[in-house]
Amino acid sequence: MAEKFKVLIADNLDAEGVEILENSGIIEVDYRKKTDREELLKIIGNYHGLIVRSATKVNKEVLDKCENLKVVIRAGVGVDNIDIPACSQKGVVVMNAPAGNSVSTAEQAIALMFALARKTPQANASMKEKKWEKSKFNGTQLTGKTIGVIGLGRIGKEVVKRCKGLQMHVLGFDPYIPKEALEYLQIELTDVDTILAKSDFITVHTPLTETTAGLVNSKNLSKLKPGVRLINCARGGIYDEAAIAEGIKSGVIAGAGLDVFTEEPPKADLPLYELEDAILTPHLGASTDEAQLEVAKETADSMVEYLKSGVARNSLNFPTLDPGQMDVLAPWFELCEKLGSLIAQAMKGAIQTVQIEYRGELTNYNLNPLEIAMAKGLLTVAMGDEVNLVNAPVYAKDRGITIAGNSIKSTSNEASVLKVSASDGKENFQIRATVNFSGGTIIGVNNLPMEFKPSGHILLIKNKDVPKVVGELGTLLGSHGVNIASLQLARDTRGGAALTFIEIDDELPGEVLETLKAKEYILEARYIRIR
Ligand code: NAD
Ligand code: MLT
Repeated sequence: MAEKFKVLIADNLDAEGVEILENSGIIEVDYRKKTDREELLKIIGNYHGLIVRSATKVNKEVLDKCENLKVVIRAGVGVDNIDIPACSQKGVVVMNAPAGNSVSTAEQAIALMFALARKTPQANASMKEKKWEKSKFNGTQLTGKTIGVIGLGRIGKEVVKRCKGLQMHVLGFDPYIPKEALEYLQIELTDVDTILAKSDFITVHTPLTETTAGLVNSKNLSKLKPGVRLINCARGGIYDEAAIAEGIKSGVIAGAGLDVFTEEPPKADLPLYELEDAILTPHLGASTDEAQLEVAKETADSMVEYLKSGVARNSLNFPTLDPGQMDVLAPWFELCEKLGSLIAQAMKGAIQTVQIEYRGELTNYNLNPLEIAMAKGLLTVAMGDEVNLVNAPVYAKDRGITIAGNSIKSTSNEASVLKVSASDGKENFQIRATVNFSGGTIIGVNNLPMEFKPSGHILLIKNKDVPKVVGELGTLLGSHGVNIASLQLARDTRGGAALTFIEIDDELPGEVLETLKAKEYILEARYIRIR
């Protein structure tokens, strides 16, 4: 019978998303719509999956109570309510559902732009007071005006398309997207200062980060084109709220349309409440039937896919592999984890660096997940089951271990091979390996040819190349009832140093290893267990 997982939906989610989870056959759903903090802390230990929108905060306090949690999905884009580093530390995958609400949020920005241009909410409020203030609500035309769009990701691009349709002149800024990738938008790509100085409207579509917080603030108000109108459907705090109020009062800013706030809901003393030219909406960007449906479906599909197959779509702390890539990389993934384990057991000192060189077909893929698998194998030797693919990079960094890979491209049809070189600062250890019809296989150790599977019970011996080694080894193991499954030898030069690899059927008794180490022809002997 398939394993059953328990998933808590702590905030509101469209019914179709709930249905996808329920029909998956592997998930028992607890849909609560709204979850009180105390209750969440009490029950969260029971769940393998958690779905939240923005109301439920997933921080260390919650994670400390999570005994079984594998995955948190934010039904939406912004993950400001999730402590991602703490989730990684705990080994919990974090995903979001970023695509479903882009169009609706872009439309909300455009709606606020129209509202600012024509003062529609103010005129509506005046009419409801039974007034007819025609001259008071004179507006501005959009055609021919300049709009600055800061952040050209999913939503920013949708906004640009609509502004161009309105025949506006569009300035854009996004330092993290290569200019060539934005050329098709046919807008003027520029910098923040130019946008502040030239725009009649400015709209922001970035996350709230150190580089975007206070993008308009009290110090740069004077840089704005007088009469500018500001729109924020991204995150509160990108424009400093006090500065906007100051700008509206002084007339530098003609109006601000804000869907998001530094604190939500804002405190009663928010200065913008008092200003007629501030048009405020309660975080409605994604609040359309269409967006909620799309986000719920995207969220539920990701949850089912992850719990079924381990593929994390839109993961924010876990390598994202599509199923096609997974088919090719799965045996390499397993191989790297086993090599990590082997290296950690084969070397004497604490490993400091692991360099992986990839060759052949393999180099056509994103191979970062293999480095994570290597880290997991390596750390599991010391840390046990606490390590998983999410927290392995965190733990590796904490311990000062660097794991890096590089692809060597070749024009010929070279077979896929990887070479791993590990160092503990004193000793180096090197393995070459490949994946063949029988799975992951080691094809060389320390520049010597060897062929064996990195699994089961292994005795790895560095010895002097002298007669009697094999005979004595066989006798010693046999006298302790240890059966040899396979044995391989390789040496650098006659009479020089040799490597002996012995695969045994069961665990090696400790006294056998000690006896071996005492032999004068044994330079080093290690018992390695790979699961
Ligand atoms: P996205 O990741 O697709 O795009 C964000 C873009 O901002 C990226 O291209 C990034 O390169 C750019 N960026 C980051 N720092 C920047 C900087 N300093 N200057 C210029 N550009 C910068 O995200 P998205 O889906 O377009 O969402 C954008 C924002 O809208 C997010 O903050 C999201 O949380 C918010 N959002 C709000 C609502 C709402 O209801 N109001 C709905 C959806 C999304
Ligand atoms: C988001 O980040 O997706 C938005 O803030 C929309 C929301 O969840 O309300």
